[in-house]
Amino acid sequence: MKIGSIKLDNWLAMAPLAGVTNLPFRLLVRRLGAGLVATEMVSAMGLVHDQRKTHAYIKSHLDEKPLSVQIFGARPDVMAKAAQIVIDAGADIVDINMGCPVKKVTRTGAGAALLQDLKQIEQMVSAVRVVCSVPLTVKIRSGWSRENPVACEAARVIENCGSDALTIHPRYRTEFFSGCADWGVIRRIKEQVNIPVIGNGDVVSPSDALKMREETGCDGVMIGRAAMANPWIFRQILQMEKGETVQIPDLTERRGLIMEHYDLLSESMGEHKAALNMRGLLLRYTKGLAYSSRFRGRITSIKDLKSLASTMDEYFSVLGSHYQETKD
Ligand SMILES: Cc1cc2nc3c(=O)[nH]c(=O)nc-3n(C[C@H](O)[C@H](O)[C@H](O)COP(=O)(O)O)c2cc1C
Repeated sequence: MKIGSIKLDNWLAMAPLAGVTNLPFRLLVRRLGAGLVATEMVSAMGLVHDQRKTHAYIKSHLDEKPLSVQIFGARPDVMAKAAQIVIDAGADIVDINMGCPVKKVTRTGAGAALLQDLKQIEQMVSAVRVVCSVPLTVKIRSGWSRENPVACEAARVIENCGSDALTIHPRYRTEFFSGCADWGVIRRIKEQVNIPVIGNGDVVSPSDALKMREETGCDGVMIGRAAMANPWIFRQILQMEKGETVQIPDLTERRGLIMEHYDLLSESMGEHKAALNMRGLLLRYTKGLAYSSRFRGRITSIKDLKSLASTMDEYFSVLGSHYQETKD
């Protein structure tokens, strides 16, 4: 898949996820096969007002490239300034958020609120396009509410304003994350625009990704929640596509990824914060594994590398004997 002048390694993208797609996680999923990674949505206002915390979100590393930096805001002029800032900081692609359903964001007129008026979409994309020297993409939902299904019209406006690609998460703002993503909307958009269309929503297994591409004709597939617990999903999709055996990570690989994630976090935020962060991540990475509830009870004792390693050793040795028993 190509986005403007940038040729991606493959057709799979990691979705921007607030609180999740920080630099350490992006490096991991990129290595595990994601062709494109993105920062979480970053406030354009925060960037323009030079808030240090906001700038920390756009710190990047060569190994994750190409990097898409997603910005959100309601004012086209501020978004244009923010786009320049993120490009100067090394963004390879600028992505405009038109999908965030959270009230704190939409009540300012940003995120999915922009979908309420095609004129706003046009002004926003045009303003950012003028200053954007790298490929520009936009991520939308189906519309604000079922009464106003604007996705196809919005997609055409976005294309006409010069966006290089479009991501669609086919749910309405009013649905938040409930119900099912309507992949029919992805197909209809794909039929109406000539820029690459990236489909997103409810891909939970490798076969879902292939199914979405086949059913909708989309150029790329973006995966969010499923990759939080299973960052190997990108590799698994590529294996399935090639007709190879889909590799389920064994215990050694799982443990290795957890420790690597900790090391990367530790480098970026220090050991103590990394250990606290790991508690949440471990809940994700051990989801569905045997005895995970017993392990969860011990997670709060993790304070540093030593306690992480010992808790993991204990759990993985129990898991190892369980695997052995089930094999015997
Ligand atoms: C915890 C969380 C944080 C999210 N943060 C963002 C974000 O910063 N920007 C964005 O465009 N979408 C965000 N989303 C939406 C996802 O990118 C994606 O569109 C949605 O989860 C549907 O894809 P999925 O079914 O593969 O998870 C977020 C979703 C979740 C669950």
